[in-house]
Amino acid sequence: MSGVNEIRSAFLEYFEKNGHERVASSPLVPRNDPTLMFTNAGMVQFKNVFTGLEKRPYNRATTAQKVVRAGGKHNDLDNVGYTARHHTFFEMLGNFSFGDYFKEQAIELAWNLTTREFDLPADRLLVTVFSEDEDAALLWKKIAGLSDDRIIRIPTSDNFWTMGETGPCGPCSEIFFDQGEGVAGGPPGSPEEDGDRFLEFWNLVFMQFDQVDAETRIDLPRPSIDTGMGLERMAAILQGVHSNYETDLFKTLIASVESAIGSHASGESLASHRVIADHLRSTAFLIADGVLPSNDGRGYVLRRIMRRAMRHARLLGAREPVLYKVLPTLVAEMGRAYPELVRAEALTSETLKLEEKRFLQTLDRGLALLSDATEGMSAGEKLSGETAFKLYDTYGFPLDLTQDALRQRGIAVDLNAFNTAMERQKAEARASWAGSGEAAAENIWFPIRERVGATEFLGYETERAGGVVVALVKDGTETETAVEGDEVSLVVNQTPFYGESGGQLGDTGTMRGEGVELAVTDTRKFAEGLFVHRCKVTRGTVKLGMPLDLEVDHRRRSHIRANHSATHLIHEALREVLGTHVAQKGSMVAPERLRFDFSHPKPIEDDELVTIERLANGIILQNAPVETRLMAVDDAIESGAMALFGEKYGDEVRVVSMGVAEEGEKAGKTFSIELCGGTHVRSTGEIGLVHVVSEAGVAAGVRRVEALTGDAARRYLLEQDERVRRMASLMKVAPAEATDRLETLLEERRRLERELAEAKKKLALAGDGGAGEGMAAKSVAGVSYLGRVLEGVAGKELKGLVDEAKAKLGSGVITFVSVADGKASVVVGVTEDLTTRFDAVALVRAASAAIGGKGGGGRPDMAQAGGPEGDRAKDALAAVEEALQAA
Ligand code: ALA
Repeated sequence: MSGVNEIRSAFLEYFEKNGHERVASSPLVPRNDPTLMFTNAGMVQFKNVFTGLEKRPYNRATTAQKVVRAGGKHNDLDNVGYTARHHTFFEMLGNFSFGDYFKEQAIELAWNLTTREFDLPADRLLVTVFSEDEDAALLWKKIAGLSDDRIIRIPTSDNFWTMGETGPCGPCSEIFFDQGEGVAGGPPGSPEEDGDRFLEFWNLVFMQFDQVDAETRIDLPRPSIDTGMGLERMAAILQGVHSNYETDLFKTLIASVESAIGSHASGESLASHRVIADHLRSTAFLIADGVLPSNDGRGYVLRRIMRRAMRHARLLGAREPVLYKVLPTLVAEMGRAYPELVRAEALTSETLKLEEKRFLQTLDRGLALLSDATEGMSAGEKLSGETAFKLYDTYGFPLDLTQDALRQRGIAVDLNAFNTAMERQKAEARASWAGSGEAAAENIWFPIRERVGATEFLGYETERAGGVVVALVKDGTETETAVEGDEVSLVVNQTPFYGESGGQLGDTGTMRGEGVELAVTDTRKFAEGLFVHRCKVTRGTVKLGMPLDLEVDHRRRSHIRANHSATHLIHEALREVLGTHVAQKGSMVAPERLRFDFSHPKPIEDDELVTIERLANGIILQNAPVETRLMAVDDAIESGAMALFGEKYGDEVRVVSMGVAEEGEKAGKTFSIELCGGTHVRSTGEIGLVHVVSEAGVAAGVRRVEALTGDAARRYLLEQDERVRRMASLMKVAPAEATDRLETLLEERRRLERELAEAKKKLALAGDGGAGEGMAAKSVAGVSYLGRVLEGVAGKELKGLVDEAKAKLGSGVITFVSVADGKASVVVGVTEDLTTRFDAVALVRAASAAIGGKGGGGRPDMAQAGGPEGDRAKDALAAVEEALQAA
């Protein structure tokens, strides 16, 4: 029992045996906490259970939780690869008590597992406790029989665990394994504690408080337990190795990195191999939970991790994308425990390849810049912040990548200057990640949810039903009545109104009771199953306890239903045509249209779009029944249902399937199967028609299609048809010939424009008297002077024309003026032989003054100017003439 997979199972089984519910890991993107970037501990999914806001059917639980510590309070990114223990992604094994057992049993359970099940020798274990926690010290003595020198009291925050700025917290006690004298380092609390000899592997947190904000810490309703054991560390101990990276799982991953790159993990290259193995894990798990690389928020943390791994792959000699080649090994090792890795494999692989390809284009140039900028620098010096910012901005080097690259030479980055440059840019850039903003809403609704229970949803079967008002909230506080004109949020015990979720908008409609009528403007879901209707009281007074007749806006809901079913068809058609890397990244199902965002690295080609529409409409024509089943999540996914990455589902899920595939690999099998809580048509024919009206990119690697169904699609196509007819009739051809005709007309127009421009020039240059070469120059101050206002000639053509005129004139001075939009442009040219007598710049200034301009500029032989008074163009010519005479 010492492989990583076996240790995980043994831990979970032990706690199951001891009355704990085995609960699946929650996604890395927390659903219940807008303050956290990533799930950074096992307790995150239970946060509201600890504080009493949420109730579960069990009061003891055990989990193997996916954890990412990169960004936010717990951030280990910088250390990864250089220490034996740090990871950006790791698995935290934990046991939890929600107001059930406390310190004593927690210590007993931990001690027994460690010394009996895992068989670690007691004389190599020691513990820390928070210095104010005398209870814990006594319990360790009593239960484990540890001597005083093995119970170390720590007065610092190291032994007071907090999840983040806010949330449940409490004193903690950590268990350490002594790796023996052969390893450098001292016990916790000693000056040598950073050495590796004493290895912390389990943290028992005695949850007692809730940090509400920076100043306020209140007691939890009941003392609770939260523990976290690093699976990788326990594996290292049980496998008798001194680094997590030497455990079975990491050895396999590192071997796979070696064979993908053709490198050898030893000496200096060791750190790079470790970084890659670690970063590949966080990358694959984050993508499986719905994060894609981007330039802000979670996506940027992912991008930093990926690029850091890529630089290390480059250091090892990789010249082309390689990380995706290691992915299958990871999936083989961890896919059984985390099936989401398997489901997301195609997407992860595509994303890795794409990101690597992109980054490799700038990586080498960035590294060259970095090495130039640091040439001759020695340890302790700083790279300028401007250079670090240039690397960031132009070459895509995240700051920590630059720092990582300079680390071995002991060179730091001037962070102040970097930040200043960054701030400057940020001011213009998009606002950065700011949580999902649900906190306030959650706090109002959880107590109500506790009191009245979840709302029963009747809307799959009916659009009309009776319900009793069980809660009313006005201006953020609970109330008992609301009168005409009031805006209220209203909860009933059961409802046919769909609460916005899974992209489908909430229902609207009306509610009626004795002497009262309300308009429902929106319906939302809060606090796990509480349907909240946003209403305006349009007549009378609504009271708590009142029975109401609830009626959904039927037309609107029908359109929504058609659009939702069509979304499933489009989703499947996209996968058929573009590939299985297509995964839903978001959707909006509204009455008037549907919008679907999905992962795909490039625009959809026109012919692909045609096929996608053909497939979807083929299923509509089948008029196939839409079948909905309730299934256990695992069975559903096994049956091939498409689940959203990172989505949290209950134990039972609705599985919606429709149509029979007519072509491709799936021919003869069900076309679309999806986990979905939305409302759908009874049979596909009700959709009528689906038509994609737009396709565009919305973020790196994410495309969006928008489509219309039914009557909206028909009207859209009709309008398009009408436009073609009108165009055809204007061009006096049949509609079928309209495009050919238009092409001919456009070509003809281009030709005519060219000819017209030529003709205008010729005309402009033609002399009044028709004299020979069209140059009606006169003699002024003993030289030939040609001054003309050129009608219909663009200002930018004047210089060329002056040049031509100079050539024809041989010797002389030329002024050409043109007028457009009431403004005049003027160019004066002086042939080379006369530049000693006349300066074109001085002459053009005279012209400019005449047309209200402010000077002008150029060279002695050619100068230009402009002025606002186009109607005085002729005066400009005279002004130059005068200037010539005066010269
Ligand atoms: N929540 C505790 C930790 O993360 C167990 O260390």
